[in-house]
Amino acid sequence: MGHDRVKVGIIGSQFQADIQAASFQIMPHEAEVVAIASPTPGNAAALAKKFGIPRVFTDYREMLKERDIEMVTIAAPNSLHAQMTKDIAAAGKHIVCEKPLAMTIGEGEEMIAAAKRHGVLLMYGEELFFTPKYLKAKEMADAGAFGKIHLVKQSEKHFGPHSPWFWDVNRSGGGAFMDLGCHGIAFCYWFLGRSPIKTVYCQMGRYAHGDKTQAEDESVCILEFANGAVGIVENSWARRGGMDDRIEVFGEAGVTYANLHMGNALPTFSENGYGYAVEKAPTTKGWTYPVFEELWNYGTPQELTHFARCARGKETSQATGEDGLVVMQALYAGYASAGEGRKIALPYQPPLGVKKPIDLWLSGPIRTEAAQP
Ligand SMILES: NC(=O)c1ccc[n+]([C@@H]2O[C@H](COP(=O)([O-])OP(=O)(O)OC[C@H]3O[C@@H](n4cnc5c(N)ncnc54)[C@H](O)[C@@H]3O)[C@@H](O)[C@H]2O)c1
Repeated sequence: MGHDRVKVGIIGSQFQADIQAASFQIMPHEAEVVAIASPTPGNAAALAKKFGIPRVFTDYREMLKERDIEMVTIAAPNSLHAQMTKDIAAAGKHIVCEKPLAMTIGEGEEMIAAAKRHGVLLMYGEELFFTPKYLKAKEMADAGAFGKIHLVKQSEKHFGPHSPWFWDVNRSGGGAFMDLGCHGIAFCYWFLGRSPIKTVYCQMGRYAHGDKTQAEDESVCILEFANGAVGIVENSWARRGGMDDRIEVFGEAGVTYANLHMGNALPTFSENGYGYAVEKAPTTKGWTYPVFEELWNYGTPQELTHFARCARGKETSQATGEDGLVVMQALYAGYASAGEGRKIALPYQPPLGVKKPIDLWLSGPIRTEAAQP
């Protein structure tokens, strides 16, 4: 392994930071994590110890002064992505920003502009573009297996996030649609060759978690693309039984279905339970479906390795800030649609002063809160 690997700093030390650090270890040839920054005392040090990361910071701005770091990944709450991106760009380092790109369309535009101004890459952490099973579906589609595709579906569901800030709409920007729908919108857009999104229709509600959040925990979204195809994106923070992530593709000449976890899982029964099954599994007792090579099956190691190669000019980024911005525009249109009860055409300009997508649902005339007492 050369000494010339891309040196990476990670911002954040919890869920996604752990996945990133583990992913760089799974594919260690192109990049090495040399630093980690996170404000809560002890957390960054704990992650550093787990993965043998030499440098630890509590203020990410201090980490950005490290001259040898070339690429910085953002695994911090959504509300911080824009400022962090601008700071990383100003420090002359390439950026990997986790999804969703930002809280507002304006922030997303500023992030892209800042990266351009400072001559660095803004890469967008959408691992579904790298998920082996979904990539196989795309390769078959591109080879003509399904003829002209008219419908693409993606859904991601679980019983809600692992960390408190997700429930606070001022830090997350929205609920299941913002958190998980960003994956589905990106997936359909990418699968259909980045055909522009023409309209967005969305319905959402809060059914299971009204006690702890203003955010929607169920959403259904229909996207119309310029090439005539339709995308359907279903999301939930109210789905019992752990993580569910799947796609369906329908064309004039064929169809394919893929369930991200099943098929990489061992149907298992255990009276005693056993360590770890898979992301967000509520238990390891009784019937469970532990996934082997989980991160590889998500595509995160492949994604981050690709980004490290992009940082060295060896590849061209397959997931960019511009992709993230398209998703932001569709998210805003989706929340507006759910708030107004009508299909919204893109480009959609939210009213001035709107600080986060969910405001358009919360303040809209239509609001479905079936389970509200
Ligand atoms: N691609 C995916 O599938 C995926 C999965 C999970 C999370 N994410 C995204 O990753 C981001 C982080 O989510 P998470 O699940 O890791 O959340 P988390 O709560 O597990 O971790 C957040 C981290 O951010 C750190 N942080 C908070 N304020 C900070 C600051 N001012 N400076 C530096 N660090 C700060 C916290 O200390 C913590 O370490 C979110 O944008 C989320 O949407 C993406």
